[in-house]
Amino acid sequence: MIIAGNWKMHKLTGEAGELATQLKGRVSDLTPAVSVILCPPFTALAKVASILAGSSIGLGAQNVYWENEGAFTGEVSPIMLKDAGCTYVIIGHSERRQYFGETDATVNRKVHAALKARLVPIICVGETEEQRDRGETKDVIVTQVNGGLESVSADQLSNVIMAYEPVWAIGTGKNATPEQAQEVHALIRGLVGDRIKDSFAVSEFPILYGGSMKPANALDLLIQPDINGGLIGGASLKADSFEGIIRAGAAAIEK
Ligand code: PGA
Repeated sequence: MIIAGNWKMHKLTGEAGELATQLKGRVSDLTPAVSVILCPPFTALAKVASILAGSSIGLGAQNVYWENEGAFTGEVSPIMLKDAGCTYVIIGHSERRQYFGETDATVNRKVHAALKARLVPIICVGETEEQRDRGETKDVIVTQVNGGLESVSADQLSNVIMAYEPVWAIGTGKNATPEQAQEVHALIRGLVGDRIKDSFAVSEFPILYGGSMKPANALDLLIQPDINGGLIGGASLKADSFEGIIRAGAAAIEK
C-alpha cells in the first residue's frame, strides 16, 4: 500500500517543513506497512528531506529532466534529485502533459533517466473527459502505458510505480467510482503483465489511483483488487486529510 502526496506548486519551505513534521509524528504507527511518500516542490525538497531523515516516509520530486547535467536552463536532473534526498519522482503528470507539452516520448526519456539514477518513477496516465465520453479510454491508456514503458525491461519494472489519474477527476472533486478505477487498473496490470513473465511480480506491481481521493472515498477505492495506493493532490496539503487517507490505506490492507 503506497500513499503519495503530490503537493504540486504549493508550500513555501517553512510551510512544507511544518506539514512534514506533523505527518511524521502522526503516521509513524502506520509506516512502513503503508509506504508514505511526500512530493514537495523542488525548493522544499532539501528542507523536507532533513525532516524525514531517519523516518520511513519517502521523498519524491514532481518532475525531472533526462540529462544529468548541461546547458538546460531551468531544468533539474536525476542526480540532483538523488542529491536532494529523493527516492521517487512523478513523471508525466497530466498537468505536465497539458501545460508543458510533455508527450509519451518525453515521459519515456525521463523514465529511463530516472531508473539509471536509481530513482523510482511514478508514471502517470489518464484520459480526459472528452476521451472517456468518446469511448477512447482504453486506447489512451494502452498508448500512454506502452509509450511510457518503451524499452523498460522486466527487471527495471520492479522499480516502477504507475498511477492512473483520470484527468476529469483531478482537482474537480469528482473521483472515479471504484468500479471505473478498478477497470482501468486491471487493464494497466494486464499491460504490465505482457512485459513481466513472473506472475507474482505482476500481482505485486504497484498501481496508484489519483483524482479527488479524500478520506471519505479512499477506503472504497483502496480495497479494489488492482488499486495498490493513491496519488493525492489537494487532500495531501493538510495533515488531517492526508492522515485520514493513510489510515484508510492501513484499513484497506486489513480487508
Ligand atoms: P487531486 O490531484 O487529488 O487534487 O485531484 C491528484 C493529482 O493530480 O495527483
